[in-house]
Amino acid sequence: MSVETTDRHAREYWGTRVGLILAMAGNAVGLGNFLRFPVQAAQNGGGTFMIPYFIAFVLLGIPLMWMEWGIGRYGGRFGHGTLPGMFDRMWRNRAAKYIGVIGIIMPLVVLTYYTVIIGWLLAFAVFSLTGGYFFPDLTVAAAATEVSAYLSSLQDIRDTSLHGGWVGFAFYAITIALITWVVSRGIRGGIEKLALFAVPTLFVMAIFLMIRVLTLPATELGSPVEGLAFIWTPEWAALGDPTVWLAAAGQVFFTLSLGIGTLHTYASFLSKEDDITLTGLATASTNEFAEVVLGGTIAIPAAVTFFGVAGLATVAGTFDLGIVAMAVVFQSLPGPEIWGRLAGFTWFFLLFLAGITSSVALASPAMAFMQEEFGFRRTNVALGVGGLALFLGLLNVVWYEGGFLDEWDYWAGTFGLVVLAFIEIWIIRLAFGADAFWKELHSGADLLISRFFLFVMKWVTPLFVTGILVWWGWEQAIPTLLMDGVAPEEIGTRWFARLTLVALLLAGIVLIRTAWRRNPEQHAPVDRPRTVRAGGGDR
Ligand code: ALA
Repeated sequence: MSVETTDRHAREYWGTRVGLILAMAGNAVGLGNFLRFPVQAAQNGGGTFMIPYFIAFVLLGIPLMWMEWGIGRYGGRFGHGTLPGMFDRMWRNRAAKYIGVIGIIMPLVVLTYYTVIIGWLLAFAVFSLTGGYFFPDLTVAAAATEVSAYLSSLQDIRDTSLHGGWVGFAFYAITIALITWVVSRGIRGGIEKLALFAVPTLFVMAIFLMIRVLTLPATELGSPVEGLAFIWTPEWAALGDPTVWLAAAGQVFFTLSLGIGTLHTYASFLSKEDDITLTGLATASTNEFAEVVLGGTIAIPAAVTFFGVAGLATVAGTFDLGIVAMAVVFQSLPGPEIWGRLAGFTWFFLLFLAGITSSVALASPAMAFMQEEFGFRRTNVALGVGGLALFLGLLNVVWYEGGFLDEWDYWAGTFGLVVLAFIEIWIIRLAFGADAFWKELHSGADLLISRFFLFVMKWVTPLFVTGILVWWGWEQAIPTLLMDGVAPEEIGTRWFARLTLVALLLAGIVLIRTAWRRNPEQHAPVDRPRTVRAGGGDR
């Protein structure tokens, strides 16, 4: 395939293949693996959850991951690291670039609340070392109440009962500053270097904790083996429940960072000769190891050991389990308190590292867009994106109790992922052409993908994703839009959250329009082979 490139700005490339794999793995491995996955598995049928989960992984996760790598590398060839430019190249329609706004604004929105959460985790890593949340004379249940209050005071800046209002903000600001610094150093000098350090470190930490948890002695309430049984005991009836299938699909989307825009940007820093089939599969497999093996073996078995299966219900939420219950676990470990403090630091810092490598990915579409489409300097863009994220994150901090963060998470971090996947699948299918895309995927490929996946990409994945949206429209759209079941005192804040999302999308559309008007030559049509002979997979 010969395609002219538009090289208005010299683009960066990944330094090494291992650096790329670790950066992509760092993008995917995040809070979803260690906090979200065990809770989803436990709430949706235990062992049987893995059946829809693996089906969704094969029929949605792997094909979409290849599609997003393929779209990203293709767009990068034209100097586009974000979806407006990529869609514009794949589908010569005036609307295409505007639809791509989702791929810039949604990751930015997720970044703003994701960093609030990893700010709490950084705080708890420090409080582990200082022993701030250790209550050695209390029972497990009483300690959980105290730690819960300790966390709430950190989360709610108006609650100064245990922390000054500035404490939560300070850890949040440190987190944003770190992300800003990393992205200001670019792809090779910042993101790749961070991944080379953070990803192996967090794996070592997670393996250490997994071994520590599995070797815990049983207590009168439970044991690690009971915890494993709790997650993995099959509940066959769950397979007939569509919400379980949706939960599995949602987890696959979130954990692999699909439908958000970050894989596209990272893949745009590859050249046409770089393999994406084998490398993409390697990063997806690394993510699954971190999720199923490590994520499934730490938080729930540890919590069941000290709270028992019945007691787990009192700490079943994502933060209750990952922060409150785990904080109680560390202060209840046998042996001197210092070991508990170090184990606590290991857990919270590994979560922080997992979060920070995903956060720099979430910042990268906005970075790439402003650098490439407006020609701004990287350092200035990093300061702008960091400042905007800080400001938008403050909305989540200030209105946290009113459900602002949950509302943004629903639209940008859950629903938005499926919408973006739906759009890109149909652009490939109807505008670019599935066979042409199959050939594009195999440029430079080290792995010839089985043609089974060509069928899956053509029919199964599009119908699966469309089916999810149709089901949502039928069952969920009206109650969700009307906020059925939402506490009355949260409705105002949640509407405010929705309106700010709409305002951000509109601002993104204005920026896209401005960029295209400023640089018509950068966006002029170039030839692309539209049809490919049957027999894709040839290189
Ligand atoms: N994929 C990232 C996670 O799992 C966003 O947290």
